[in-house]
Amino acid sequence: MGKVELPQFKPELDLKLSQVAKTLKYCKEVSPSEIPLSKLSKVLYSIQGISGGIFWVKAKTIPSAGATYPLDIYVEPYCREVKSGLYGYSPTSEYKGWLRIKRERENSVSRIYIHAVFARTTRRYGSRGEHYVLMEVGHAIQNALLEATLLDLGLSYSLNLDELSRFLKEGEEPLAVLELGSYTEKPSMKYDISSFKNHTTGLKIPVLPELKLEEAILKRRSVRKYSSPKLSLEELSYVLYYSSGRAWMGDRPYAPPNHTYRLDVYVVAGGVEGLAPGVYIYDDRENALILVREGDLRRSLYRACLGQEWVLEAPASIVLASKPKNDRWYLDVETGMIGQNVYLAATSVGLGTVAVGAFYDDEVAAVLGIDTAPLYVMPLGRLG
Ligand SMILES: Cc1cc2nc3c(=O)[nH]c(=O)nc-3n(C[C@H](O)[C@H](O)[C@H](O)COP(=O)(O)O)c2cc1C
Repeated sequence: MGKVELPQFKPELDLKLSQVAKTLKYCKEVSPSEIPLSKLSKVLYSIQGISGGIFWVKAKTIPSAGATYPLDIYVEPYCREVKSGLYGYSPTSEYKGWLRIKRERENSVSRIYIHAVFARTTRRYGSRGEHYVLMEVGHAIQNALLEATLLDLGLSYSLNLDELSRFLKEGEEPLAVLELGSYTEKPSMKYDISSFKNHTTGLKIPVLPELKLEEAILKRRSVRKYSSPKLSLEELSYVLYYSSGRAWMGDRPYAPPNHTYRLDVYVVAGGVEGLAPGVYIYDDRENALILVREGDLRRSLYRACLGQEWVLEAPASIVLASKPKNDRWYLDVETGMIGQNVYLAATSVGLGTVAVGAFYDDEVAAVLGIDTAPLYVMPLGRLG
């Protein structure tokens, strides 16, 4: 009874990212309601499920810097099918997973705890790895929100990031606590991003053939080879709009920490049909691009990204950065949230991307013409 086998994840639901993004079920507080194990297991799967891999290298539903996978997931199910208590979630192959009971206790709402053992990532990447861990928390929360929305569940979350204490870094305390229940209402959101007046290129909200969102969640992989040196403006617009456009009832389609959107979204374009080569900032409010630097700067960006060739070869890269003086840990989480949307939007319409976190901050900043630290570079191209 202490060990529960979870059902295999199957992409049964028909909704697409463009539909789900409009109706995200994030709320400040969920109202408690029992959640069937079949639904809970899908949300867990979206956070850390195994969706592929070769031999002993397992690939998961969210990316991980150098495949170091620092996150550990625990859950308190509020559901009659299992004994009340705290369980550890162990993803296994074949799209399955197990719950193993840690201790019995009464639950009144379903909670998912995201812990991380930082050393798994910092061992390889030093202090930069701490940021990578928090980005992965953002990826995990965003996937959970999308899957919860698909399942018609409300989701709220809190972060525990005031101090990166030893207990937090060693995985004893959770970095994030997610609650699942009945949806209540969407809180109002704030923006602390750059604003602009003159638009260079107004975008349309493109209608493109899309995969089902659950198929995209399963198929998401980091893609470093692209089949074409070109990208259409519609393809780029789709990814921008459904990752960071105002698709969610007038807000961006994710729920940032403290209900405040703080990231600016740039595009470094060289091979986008209908868009002159240059560096652009995306004005999400107007769904438009604003030229900030003329010319094809992909080679400079590639050099700044330690010569990672996919940055040179992709027709365009999306780059996330913030205004000065924003709180870095929250920015990292928000970076992961947009990053997950970029992955899923790309996968949905036959494109590929990869989250690039390894670069010289000042050199990427120089390409964008900003004086703050950039967070992600995400090259974008067509799949082979
Ligand atoms: C925070 C973060 C930083 C990453 N940085 C890089 C990078 O600099 N270069 C790269 O090629 N991939 C990078 N990746 C992608 C991982 O290498 C990739 O997610 C991992 O190998 C697992 O493969 P998958 O995404 O196909 O499941 C990064 C991923 C994350 C989450």
